[in-house]
Amino acid sequence: RSLLTLTAAAAATLALLPAAFAQSPIVIKFSHVVAIDTPKGKAAEFFAKRAGELTKGKVKVEVYPNSQLYKDKEEMEALQLGSVQMLAPSLSKFAPLGVKEFEAFDLPFIFDDYSDLHAVTQGPVGAKMLKKLESRGITGLAFWDNGFKVMSANKPLRAVEDYKGLKMRIQSSKVLDAQMRSVGALPQVLAFSETYQALQTGVVDGTENPPSNLYTQKMHEVQKNVTMTNHGYLGYAVVVNKKFWDGLPADVRTALGKAMAEATVVANDVAKKDNEEALEKVRTWGKTAVYKPSLAERFLLKKAMVPVHKQMASRIGQETLDEIYKVTN
Ligand code: LMR
Repeated sequence: RSLLTLTAAAAATLALLPAAFAQSPIVIKFSHVVAIDTPKGKAAEFFAKRAGELTKGKVKVEVYPNSQLYKDKEEMEALQLGSVQMLAPSLSKFAPLGVKEFEAFDLPFIFDDYSDLHAVTQGPVGAKMLKKLESRGITGLAFWDNGFKVMSANKPLRAVEDYKGLKMRIQSSKVLDAQMRSVGALPQVLAFSETYQALQTGVVDGTENPPSNLYTQKMHEVQKNVTMTNHGYLGYAVVVNKKFWDGLPADVRTALGKAMAEATVVANDVAKKDNEEALEKVRTWGKTAVYKPSLAERFLLKKAMVPVHKQMASRIGQETLDEIYKVTN
């Protein structure tokens, strides 16, 4: 009799289990290094909201902004180890994984505008690049825009000679290193989270960033000059741990894919607007000069930097470069 009771109790418990599981959502930790009030920050929040709605609460996305969980280098490791499930690192941060193709995005003057960029990121060339991540245990879901970079320092940056000897903070990328050296600057790799302080204390003299990053980190407060060089691009790949992603129920994956598609539209809309507004906010702040180079000045900068394409071609892969040149010309 007692055995019977036990079995009945066990059966009752088992019957309850699916309901109990259904109530505890699948948690996706989404870590990033920028402020909430940035294109990436806003798109991550939007994705979290839509993921919850479209999966009817089966998924809960927790967003950790501002390097509060992990800094640049650590977050990639955390993703591969499964300590976080989702990230959107800048495209410059994928080369350390051994996926050198991504460094093409760092090449100076490779895209004239967003339409050139989208020809790559929203088309087959971009899809092929994301596929390359799979061998590293990472699934690439989307490209999110940020924008074209400005240069900043405490001195005016107009002629190529103005960069000579300046210590410039860069992301960890051999292409960005070569780009800074092409104008005689001394590149220094620093985590994003350490950049403001490095500028403030003079560890570095200047940096490059889309205006939205510059403004939300208050870098303009420690940089007297910003030059609208638009010499290169900074954007993101949204990535998930492959094992985690493949292990999700198919209906959940489909819903998350839809949420991601919607978030990508939001990210790209917000990016353009935020970068324009950020530059305007730096201008109205009034203590930092915002300089728009003349066509001739920008041409000379381009002339100095463009040899980096050839210099880095064998590293990035000529085939990837040719594919990019083909769709952007
Ligand atoms: C940087 O390190 O400058 C950027 O990658 C930060 C970011 O995520 O936009």
